[in-house]
Amino acid sequence: MEAEIHAAAVQRGAETEHEAKDRMLRATSRSGLLQGSIFSSKICIFVVSITLFRYTTMSEQQQTRRPVIFSGMQPTHTLMLGNYVGALKNWVVLQETHDCIFCIVNLHALTISPVPAELRRRSLDAAAMYIASGIDPERSTIFIQSHVPEHSQLTWVLNCFTSMGECSKMTQFKEKTERHSANVGLFTYPVLMAADILLYQADLVPVGADQKQHLELARNLAERFNNRHSPTFTVPDPYIPKVGARIMSLQEPTKKMSKSDENAKATIYLDDAPDVVRNKLKRAVTDSGTDIRFNAEERPAISNLLTIFSVATGETIQQLEERFAGKTYADFKTELGEAVVEQLRPIQERYHALRQDEDTLKAILARGAEAARRRARKTMQKVYKKTGIIEFE
Ligand code: TRP
Repeated sequence: MEAEIHAAAVQRGAETEHEAKDRMLRATSRSGLLQGSIFSSKICIFVVSITLFRYTTMSEQQQTRRPVIFSGMQPTHTLMLGNYVGALKNWVVLQETHDCIFCIVNLHALTISPVPAELRRRSLDAAAMYIASGIDPERSTIFIQSHVPEHSQLTWVLNCFTSMGECSKMTQFKEKTERHSANVGLFTYPVLMAADILLYQADLVPVGADQKQHLELARNLAERFNNRHSPTFTVPDPYIPKVGARIMSLQEPTKKMSKSDENAKATIYLDDAPDVVRNKLKRAVTDSGTDIRFNAEERPAISNLLTIFSVATGETIQQLEERFAGKTYADFKTELGEAVVEQLRPIQERYHALRQDEDTLKAILARGAEAARRRARKTMQKVYKKTGIIEFE
């Protein structure tokens, strides 16, 4: 059975052994073959030798194929603590086990008409912050979205597979256009996001809950294209981290900490100087009451600060409650400030070093774009071929 599973994995080439196992088990239990007796030992030996033969003739790359992860952030504002805790920190871990592609989605940022010089600067800031947080350009692909023109190319094709209704029902689109008049880029934003993901045949996409609806569109588009033409895209799954601590605003702890909050005191930016961090935490709103206990519903403010503390030092909430029993909010906030400053210190050191050496940073991003483009090109060639968009060799 093992050998056969392996053979299936090898044959398909496009899936992990684990996935192959899953699929085989499903298939065999459907047809009642699981009893096993049907496989005579001769067949087993045959399968094993085929497997060994296929395995030894496979390229190294095929043998080590790991599930593909794609994720990205907009360089609209400076990245903040919630981005680190909710995304970057998890990405760093995922590099160990996955083939990771991390993008700075500057084309998405254009939908809110940023100041050009700021968009340019923040794109590099974000890249430096990815790396400073522990994303390793030797192991993962890091690049700027616009450096791979296939993102725009695939978006156009996918636009022609998307209905008006699918875009206009998007919660984020409705929210963003409630007060301001919308540009068409905002409307088709989720299609560009689908293109990002599908170009790389991503298996998994780490996203926050607010992006699940967009991911659903990416899945639908992949299936629609595959059905209308032939299998072309991997249908991606959302990847929601198991222990995702949610970091809330320091000023309104019932809403998420946001990099675009108008009140700068509500957000700890990853490049905030130590004194700024200390001050923001000192001025963070607190609930009525004085004891330092976690209760997200009744006391969202102190619960948020406990979460931030716990993430910064690795202590559990319970340990912190015990440590601060009988102490004042002021004591707690002073120590919290130091904990967060210490958490950010190594990240900021690496960040400033990278930011001061722009040539090196740009060279890393150029290499990333080259690697990404090779992969994106392959998908785009298939898409053009299948849709009848003529390309000359
Ligand atoms: N829309 C995402 C956000 O605002 C950013 C994004 C763009 C993204 N393309 C993506 C995230 C592809 C994951 C995968 O958070």
